[in-house]
Amino acid sequence: MAALSKEVVLSARDVVVAFGERNILDHLDLDVYRGEVLGFVGGSGAGKSVLMRTIIGLIPKREGIIKVFGQYLDTATEEQLVAVEQRWGILFQQGALFSSLTVLQNVQFPIREYLNVSERLMDEIAVAKLEMVGLSPDVQSKFPSELSGGMIKRVALARALALDPELVFLDEPTSGLDPIGAGEFDELIKTLQRTLGLTVYMVTHDLDSLHAICDRIAVLAGGKVILTGTMKDMLASEHPWLKSYFRGKRARMANLES
Ligand SMILES: Nc1ncnc2c1ncn2[C@@H]1O[C@H](COP(=O)(O)OP(=O)(O)OP(=O)(O)O)[C@@H](O)[C@H]1O
Ligand SMILES: [Mg+2]
Repeated sequence: MAALSKEVVLSARDVVVAFGERNILDHLDLDVYRGEVLGFVGGSGAGKSVLMRTIIGLIPKREGIIKVFGQYLDTATEEQLVAVEQRWGILFQQGALFSSLTVLQNVQFPIREYLNVSERLMDEIAVAKLEMVGLSPDVQSKFPSELSGGMIKRVALARALALDPELVFLDEPTSGLDPIGAGEFDELIKTLQRTLGLTVYMVTHDLDSLHAICDRIAVLAGGKVILTGTMKDMLASEHPWLKSYFRGKRARMANLES
């Protein structure tokens, strides 16, 4: 594992998010360090997507503090928020792409939203991003319905990279891909992280991804991050959920391969 700088790029403290009476996130704490690939795991419905959406400001929290790039997001001015938003990129779990826009238009979406640049420059940036994620120029004019699941994920990644972010949020980027496609996507994420110096916050259920590319893993259960650490730390934990997740039947093969 590469030596990690301990600069915190994202911290969440005491975060509470509730829908009605039910606390989904219950006094949750989390730190993400610059340059790391953090794998975020937890059972289905645990609140992984809710936390990601809360961090980026799409879901209001009842309590707590979120700080990104040293900026407290709650007290930030509109201008400061826009500045922060330009420094992160997002790949959503659902609705990864706008179905009525072409691939090129999808990748250009954040550029159009945040930058005032010419159409020509916007084309050039989008084409470069598509190339970066391994897509050939002939996909530019296609619509999402004409693409395979793997290609959609790649286009969504290109869109997440559109503004040259320092931090990317990926919500289950390899779900729905076959194991070879998922492995290739992992490699792509790792390569981009290394070459661009990205910090990657990746929600995943994919044990192979966790083994292959994550520097650290954070585990969400009962509304809290109950453990953060390396895969070794996960395997050593006696917590029942962690034991069955990382050492259960389905985990055994992944563990053997690493
Ligand atoms: N807008 C909303 N209104 C009400 N409840 C919601 C809303 N969004 C999420 N929830 C609930 O919050 C809980 C956590 O959902 P979330 O989507 O974060 O789970 P998850 O950990 O991402 O699961 P998965 O691994 O299946 O994607 C679920 O019980 C979900 O039904
Ligand atoms: Mg989710």
